[in-house]
Amino acid sequence: MNNRFWLKRLSIFLSTFLLTATLIAQEDAAAGLDLDAGKALFRSQCATCHATNMKTDATGPALGGVEERWVDYPQEDLYSWIRNSQAMVTAGHPRGTALFEEWNGSIMTPFLNLTDEQIANILGYIDGVYNETYGVVPGGPIGPEVEEEKPDNTLLFVVLAAILAILAVILARIISNLNYMVEVREGATPGPRKTLVEILTSKGIIAFVIFTLVVLGGYTTVNNAISLGRQQGYQPEQPIKFSHATHAGLNKIDCNYCHDGARRSKHSVIPSTNTCMNCHRAIKEGTTYGTAEITKIFASIGYDPSTDSYISDYENMSQSDIEDIYKKWIADTYVRNNNTAPPGGFVEGQWNDIVSSLTNENKTKVQGPIEWIRIHNLPDHAYFNHAQHVTVGKVECQTCHGPVEEMEVVEQYSPLSMGWCINCHRQTEVQFKDNDYYKAYTKYHEEIANGQRTKVTVEEIGGLECQKCHY
Ligand code: HEC
Ligand code: HEC
Ligand code: HEC
Ligand code: HEC
Ligand code: HEC
Ligand code: HEC
Repeated sequence: MNNRFWLKRLSIFLSTFLLTATLIAQEDAAAGLDLDAGKALFRSQCATCHATNMKTDATGPALGGVEERWVDYPQEDLYSWIRNSQAMVTAGHPRGTALFEEWNGSIMTPFLNLTDEQIANILGYIDGVYNETYGVVPGGPIGPEVEEEKPDNTLLFVVLAAILAILAVILARIISNLNYMVEVREGATPGPRKTLVEILTSKGIIAFVIFTLVVLGGYTTVNNAISLGRQQGYQPEQPIKFSHATHAGLNKIDCNYCHDGARRSKHSVIPSTNTCMNCHRAIKEGTTYGTAEITKIFASIGYDPSTDSYISDYENMSQSDIEDIYKKWIADTYVRNNNTAPPGGFVEGQWNDIVSSLTNENKTKVQGPIEWIRIHNLPDHAYFNHAQHVTVGKVECQTCHGPVEEMEVVEQYSPLSMGWCINCHRQTEVQFKDNDYYKAYTKYHEEIANGQRTKVTVEEIGGLECQKCHY
């Protein structure tokens, strides 16, 4: 076949592809949009409620194609919606009220500070992700989005393997043909030629296939076994939208105020609802979610915010009596803030969300402790002690847990693997000076005193011994 013909085809295809990619990228640049800025804003402000793929509904609707859904209204309407959706609902905007009812009165956070430019960037980014043009850079389709999504490469590998296998068979055929020709040319009577089936079932090939399967199988098994139960980046949605950024960041509440156990014991402990009540007896509604989230604290512990008192015999109260108490609180608060009755479905929607957050298959009543979803979890055979690290070792929470005070939703920051523990023990210096806990290590103290050593690592006090970490 004519090689030139194919080369020409290929280069035409490639240049068309590159050209389109460049054009798309330029189109956005021409509109003056900064999609990366839009992405950053979307991730930090909107992604808690709107899915990042723009295609599935989450707490809020999928945002893909949203501009088309607002074409019947002036552009400012969509911008005003994003800045303050509740104002539009109250003003009776047709699409606004319809949306709000469709979403059972879920309230979208207001973003009063967003500029027109920032909103345009966010909308540009939404559109880019939805139409799969964002992340396409001149020179290839591999953009940051593609990397983050971690596409499943299995199909690619299978296809590659198939191609390699076919090539191998073809090569084997060629070699056998060449051998045959050589033998003919040398005048010898050639032996019977091997058929394809004979080649494929020869001992060498079978041994090779078995070997590959064993290696691949072993690799996947070990890999899966090691990552079992390990979940770096794990970030489940919690029953209450509790924000460390608000509490530990903005309001500078000390980690130990809530996680008091970390200093004193093996476990750091999640605070009980009583700890929340220290402040939320007074802070009864929030700037972000109004009554939607904080009421969950009250419903779990049995506090009536309308009368500022704990409800007696709350444990045995019927769900419909409970419902009346909190629906009244939600409705009254709405009226107090807006001077008008709540729109249809508002109170019902908020109460339903509260019930579904506080109940699950095993817990059918809203009463009782909030069931936070555990994020960090070492296997049973490993021993880890917080007080040892925080109080004795003087390691900061953030060294292991990352910048929690910036997290809206906590995620597992470190791998929690054995290698991670060991590496730190190898590298970290024990705070030897003025630390009563290390008085017993007289030898090291003498060596430091007479200048023989400058530091002691955790490894040197036994931090790599198996039995220290394993039961
Ligand atoms: C607290 C959750 C929450 C956050 C945060 C949030 N939204 Fe929403 N959003 C919603 C809900 C819920 C709706 C559905 C309407 C309603 O119930 O108010 C919605 C609706 C919308 C709509 C209308 C969709 C349509 O189909 O017309 C747009 C546009 C929108 N949000 C954009 C944004 C943008 C942009 C951000 C970030 C700057 C954002 N939202 C942040 C919850 C949220
Ligand atoms: C006002 C109380 C409060 C403060 C202050 C607070 N936390 Fe939390 N923390 C919680 C609650 C409630 C949870 C469980 C819900 C969640 O995961 O967001 C939690 C969860 C966590 C978790 C995840 C636990 C798990 O399930 O594995 C870590 C880690 C954590 N906090 C670290 C910190 C650090 C570090 C600080 C200080 C920078 C801090 N917290 C400050 C209340 C608090
Ligand atoms: C030391 C005081 C303090 C403690 C303890 C505390 N909070 Fe808060 N919380 C605040 C402050 C201040 C705000 C910000 C209120 C606002 O939105 O204006 C807040 C806001 C919130 C919000 C956001 C409400 C909204 O609509 O914006 C939630 C949810 C919340 N807290 C849950 C909890 C939970 C759950 C606990 C217990 C684990 C807890 N808080 C413990 C002080 C506290
Ligand atoms: C040396 C690393 C390290 C430091 C420092 C550290 N943690 Fe942890 N933290 C962990 C590990 C590992 C786990 C998982 C423990 C388990 O599953 O038994 C964990 C679990 C937690 C949990 C979940 C509940 C529990 O105890 O299992 C919370 C909450 C927490 N840490 C908060 C904190 C706070 C607050 C600080 C600082 C005062 C802190 N941590 C300091 C490594 C650390
Ligand atoms: C950020 C660094 C760091 C990480 C990560 C870390 N450690 Fe440590 N660890 C220390 C320091 C510092 C000490 C010294 C405290 C002391 O002397 O008791 C220590 C001490 C210990 C000790 C006591 C050692 C002894 O000889 O008394 C144990 C047990 C331990 N760590 C277990 C773990 C486990 C299990 C993990 C992983 C889940 C882990 N550590 C992760 C820094 C770390
Ligand atoms: C500093 C603490 C620490 C020390 C020292 C330590 N381990 Fe581990 N080891 C761990 C932790 C944490 C895990 C759990 C890791 C996970 O869940 O992936 C683990 C897991 C394991 C596993 C299960 C396989 C795996 O990766 O999950 C084996 C086997 C093991 N350790 C053996 C040992 C032996 C043998 C030694 C002594 C040479 C040792 N460990 C010393 C912390 C330690």
